[in-house]
Amino acid sequence: MLIREQAQLRHLNTFHVPAQARWFAAVTSAAELQDALAWARDRQQSFMLIGQGSNILFKQDYPGLIIELQLRGISVVAETDAAVDVEAMGGEVWHEFVQWCLARGYCGLENLSLIPGTVGAAPVQNIGAYGAEVKDTLLSLEALEIASGTFRRFSNAECTFAYRNSVFKQKLQGQYVICSVRFRLHKQPRLNLDYPALREALAGVDPSQLTPQAVSDAVCAIRRSKLPDHQRLGNAGSFFWNPHLSREQFDNLKRQWPTLPGYPDANGVKVPAAWLIEQAGWKGYREGDVGVHSEHALVLVNHGDATGAELVALSVKIQDSIQQRFGIRLEPEVRIV
Ligand code: EPU
Repeated sequence: MLIREQAQLRHLNTFHVPAQARWFAAVTSAAELQDALAWARDRQQSFMLIGQGSNILFKQDYPGLIIELQLRGISVVAETDAAVDVEAMGGEVWHEFVQWCLARGYCGLENLSLIPGTVGAAPVQNIGAYGAEVKDTLLSLEALEIASGTFRRFSNAECTFAYRNSVFKQKLQGQYVICSVRFRLHKQPRLNLDYPALREALAGVDPSQLTPQAVSDAVCAIRRSKLPDHQRLGNAGSFFWNPHLSREQFDNLKRQWPTLPGYPDANGVKVPAAWLIEQAGWKGYREGDVGVHSEHALVLVNHGDATGAELVALSVKIQDSIQQRFGIRLEPEVRIV
């Protein structure tokens, strides 16, 4: 395992902002990962794991060791007539893994097509889109406990998944590295077309052609129409969480803003942050090389040479403006380092 000094991270974050890591290592096996962690521990260096850097914003240089997880491999670990358990290593690219499954007729991940990032990062924030979340198909995962250097298997329940959240962002934050994830997928399609935009996109499709691959294609088309390709325009998807309001808070706002959309659940109502940001006039806003995407108000973008600090400054302006107008404090979903 090679430890490099003063490594540039621009290609390792989808915002494509410049930042230097004091130290950097790419690890391709669990043994190399353990070596890298031991290296940091022995030198009392801070360290951080990175996959594709698709949910991260570097606002400054990183003073410790960045470890890029490149653990690769996908295999079938159990199979019945109806279902198949597939295990993917943490460094696999999420969308390539979804396509691998679809090509073999294993269904369940199609709604999560084209989400940037790696398999190992997916459970940390319980990635979700178009009515599905990773928790719906995740069977278990294996993670390395950093302090002890031992592996532990977590069941789905032990991950305590919630909206964009898991135990790995809460109680166990910074304590484990997810090395591999197992999914239970189906051989017979069980399509999930609950999300309105997805249903609309597939409305004209002949029901006999309504396959998981067709759903995946529709999800990709919707995403491509709204979310910028980070290769062309640096971004990290949704910048803020969709805020969750009490029923009373929502009803009060709705009286003032009758077109405010809301998605009720058992504890209140989730509202789209994108709607709030668009209403406040930020959609398509640009200031130097930082801006708000013209097709989706929840996506902050780097038009070229923006720095992380400039993007953070814009995000704070947006937070303040939404707070002032609607009395809601938006919280970043993106991890700011
Ligand atoms: N809207 C606007 N203006 C916009 C965009 C959206 O007013 O510019 C409103 C519309 O009312 C629309 C609603 O917001 O109906 C919801 O928009 P969208 O379907 O695009 O979903 P979202 O709530 O903005 C969430 C996830 C996305 C995920 C989509 C689809 C969060 C923080 N984001 O976005 O995830 O792809 O749903 O399921 O929950 C990501 O996490 O990076 C991400 C892209």
